[in-house]
Amino acid sequence: MSKRSLSFICQNCGAAAPRWQGKCEACGEWNTLTDESGRPSGPGRAPRKGRLFALEPLAGEAHDAPRLPCGIAELDRVTGGGFVRGSVLLMAGDPGIGKSTLLIQAAAAMARAGQRAVYISGEEAVAQVRLRAERLGLRDAAVELAAETAVEDIIATLSEGRTPRLVVIDSIQTMWTDLVESAPGTVTQVRGSAQALIRFAKRSGAAIILVGHVTKDGQIAGPRVVEHMVDAVLSFEGEGSHQFRILRAVKNRFGPTDEIGVFEMTGAGLREVANPSELFLSERELGTPGTAVFAGIEGTRPILVEIQALVTPTSLGTPRRAVVGWDQSRLSMVLAVLEAHCGVRLGGHDVYLNVAGGLRITETAADLAAAAALVSSLANAPLPADAVYFGEVSLSGAVRPVAQGPARLKEAAKLGFARAVVPEAAREAADQGLKVSDVASLSSLVADIAALGRGNQAAKSVRQDG
Ligand code: TYD
Ligand code: MG
Repeated sequence: MSKRSLSFICQNCGAAAPRWQGKCEACGEWNTLTDESGRPSGPGRAPRKGRLFALEPLAGEAHDAPRLPCGIAELDRVTGGGFVRGSVLLMAGDPGIGKSTLLIQAAAAMARAGQRAVYISGEEAVAQVRLRAERLGLRDAAVELAAETAVEDIIATLSEGRTPRLVVIDSIQTMWTDLVESAPGTVTQVRGSAQALIRFAKRSGAAIILVGHVTKDGQIAGPRVVEHMVDAVLSFEGEGSHQFRILRAVKNRFGPTDEIGVFEMTGAGLREVANPSELFLSERELGTPGTAVFAGIEGTRPILVEIQALVTPTSLGTPRRAVVGWDQSRLSMVLAVLEAHCGVRLGGHDVYLNVAGGLRITETAADLAAAAALVSSLANAPLPADAVYFGEVSLSGAVRPVAQGPARLKEAAKLGFARAVVPEAAREAADQGLKVSDVASLSSLVADIAALGRGNQAAKSVRQDG
């Protein structure tokens, strides 16, 4: 009977240990091991006879999740049509990005539509929240405010009277519950508080939004654990120097995860941007080498965005490759294809690639636009200002078709672009009033761009074999 069981479980990473220790050896967190050997088992104790329940067929009656649109169209788009009753959503983002601003605006919009909306701040005093609401012109909205951090008190208060439709908890990191002994702000506290609030949401039918700050390395600070407990995780992103803010669903049990919502931070709060392409292209400098317009798709919406490249001779032994807003390994791949199949020598050049406006592109369809920008910079040859690019580049140097070509072309035509450089197969689908030139391979694109810069010295370096 001396078999030692692994009954101490780390509350942060789930590792098991045979005895209590101050520090979890698996994840390095302090004070996270708890004894979970609670239930006595083994001989002498008859197992409980289970209760029977009915199994249901898959084909049965299903109800759409009841939704509560808040009226801010860009937010409703990302949640998939509104907050789902009884669901819990985590809104994650860097400090200062505008989470509190967006959520007080959402709460006010709900309150104005006659729904009960409650905003609990654990970070700011009621007066501070009021001050912000006044700046945003929301003073008349019947949002109920409190500055509280004790979860049991919050749940007791919210259980009184009419059930609130929307509850904002700003932020989950400031909350604490009696059920857990560790100090506020610790992983265990954050998880305990989130659990209690999730139980309340399921029981009452209120939609709860938890605000979570992320750390510098992009992780949702401490409560990574909260991420898989909630129904949806929205991440609010943006570059400090830009006014644009992008809301993206990272996880969504009730809706899509590829939609983005675009906002602009103004003096009077966050403004919705219904046509992001206009915004992303508004600061475009025409006629400069190294920029290409990519006709992309985010979720169901086409978005045109400028891709900027800078290719300069390197002064270091190892050339630099830096990328903002796109995938580093995707860039390496495009560079390798340019070297291997198109005769473009980049070994002696630093390469910088940037997606304008702080947007982050995940589509492989951006390959062709990125390649065009890179070659344009190297050849010092500006691309035509009225052209858009899209297409995926394969390792063999072929340009492959991508999904939703017609939608991309339509958006480009709407914004006044006159031509599109696209994969060969996308041609038939194209009759959107644009002049479509198709490229079968990356080397023909390179040849076209080199021809644009003919006569200048830099262009000669592009095609050493031609
Ligand atoms: P906030 O919503 O407090 O950010 P978070 O809750 O994510 O930490 O937003 C803070 C920033 O937003 C702050 O730097 C000022 C700016 N801001 C505006 O530019 N305009 C406004 O109307 C408001 C309310 C804030
Ligand atoms: Mg805040």
